[in-house]
Amino acid sequence: GALILLAIISAYLFGSISSAVLICRLFGLPDPRTSGSNNPGATNVYRLGGKIPALLTLWFDVLKGMVPVWISYFLGIEPFYLGLIAVAACLGHIFPLYFHFRGGKAVATALGAMFPVAWEMALLLIATWLLVFRISRVSSLAAIVTVSLAPFFAYWIKPQYTVPVIMISVLIMWRHQSNIVRLRTGQEKRTTRRED
Ligand code: G3P
Repeated sequence: GALILLAIISAYLFGSISSAVLICRLFGLPDPRTSGSNNPGATNVYRLGGKIPALLTLWFDVLKGMVPVWISYFLGIEPFYLGLIAVAACLGHIFPLYFHFRGGKAVATALGAMFPVAWEMALLLIATWLLVFRISRVSSLAAIVTVSLAPFFAYWIKPQYTVPVIMISVLIMWRHQSNIVRLRTGQEKRTTRRED
């Protein structure tokens, strides 16, 4: 009991580290919370600063999901709780303790959490994201389609994770409200580096 609680709290605290904000500071870029789409995530860092800072943000946000779930898995924590630990890491990214609870959309962190327990599923999700992005060139649309399919993939490949995957998909979808409005009104632009 105590170990699981400690793992959940640690995952939340680790997830709370906003890679996008820190990497933008390091690269002397504008604050991603108040520039571009105002979202602290790899997509917006790409808009503001291009590939290198975006890939670093992506990697650290993936680690925020991957590390807590991996450690918990090696500690022998059961699948149901591993799912909750993944949710906690995503909640840290979305509501970061050290950044006034104003975080991102948890796409990368959710993907990272998937790797230690269901790498086949993680690869399928990446393939889906890449396919939709290739066709549309819109990062948010790629994320929305991917998280909509994720529960079905889970039910098919790793049924024991269907419930936490649904929880995370709902969270990510909810964080894309503004993107959904823009997509419906034809205002969501292709994800390109901002010219300044
Ligand atoms: O992962 C976030 C992405 O799906 C959308 O980001 O900056 O276009 O709102 P953004």
